[in-house]
Amino acid sequence: MDANETATVRGWDPLVKLTHWGIALAVLVNGVFTEEGSDWHVWVGTGMAALLLVRLLWGFIGPKEARFSAFPPSPTRAADHVADIVAGRKLAHASHNGLGALMAYALWATLGVVAVTGFLMSGVPGTASARVEAPMVPAVTAPLAPVAEEADEEREEADEAEEGEGGEGAEGGEGPEWIEEVHEVAANLLFVLAALHIGGVLFETRRSGPAVIRRMTGGVRG
Ligand code: HEM
Ligand code: HEM
Repeated sequence: MDANETATVRGWDPLVKLTHWGIALAVLVNGVFTEEGSDWHVWVGTGMAALLLVRLLWGFIGPKEARFSAFPPSPTRAADHVADIVAGRKLAHASHNGLGALMAYALWATLGVVAVTGFLMSGVPGTASARVEAPMVPAVTAPLAPVAEEADEEREEADEAEEGEGGEGAEGGEGPEWIEEVHEVAANLLFVLAALHIGGVLFETRRSGPAVIRRMTGGVRG
């Protein structure tokens, strides 16, 4: 048993719990509920990015189990954990086990790509870089309707032309099309990783007991 493995384990500290559940909620809300690129989407995404930054800082200054030094991204540690599973060995880990550590880094890296590409499209809300919404079209009265329709059509044509040239996205995002593509691919990868992560947590819970989840929900005291 090395220094990272003890017979009894403490629950995760409150900051790890807060950032974990905050980030998970933001991913769920932006993946399922908000309209892509809407103000809500950008604000929820900004909240996620802030929690991510706080958690990454905590990896340097937080309690021992929460520090990166307690769970280095090591293929050898991951292979050791697979060997433990195969052999039916159940070691209690004070921090993440070898496989869980790799997943945590993969999730954080993907969240980082989603956040950076998001900000490249929308700017940082509340700062000078924030995307400026197009002025609202005034309420259209009946006689003006045909003019407004024409203007709408022209705008749509211009958007399509820009898209064809690989220019700005048509749905309100700024910047080249590839940034939007990377944001979309990273978001989809995030959903796949999150599903694998939840599967891994459930598997480890069946194998080693409910403490795995309780440490993150508050059932195990620090
Ligand atoms: C919390 C995690 C996030 C998830 C799961 C997520 C997911 C998505 C998805 C699936 C799309 C649609 C992409 C497409 O089909 O083109 C999208 C679009 C967009 N997202 Fe996010 N996003 C997240 C965070 C952010 C952040 C942090 C920002 C900016 C601060 C942001 C800004 C945008 C913008 C501006 C678009 C519109 C792109 C366009 O169509 O022009 N997102 N997001
Ligand atoms: C989109 C959803 C989710 C994301 C992005 C996510 C992300 C993460 C990340 C980044 C970590 C590392 C935590 C840290 O050290 O700060 C983690 C750990 C953990 N997550 Fe999640 N998570 C999600 C959903 C869930 C759900 C639904 C559960 C409950 C079934 C869960 C249970 C856990 C547990 C128990 C750990 C600690 C694992 C260990 O002991 O090594 N997560 N998660």
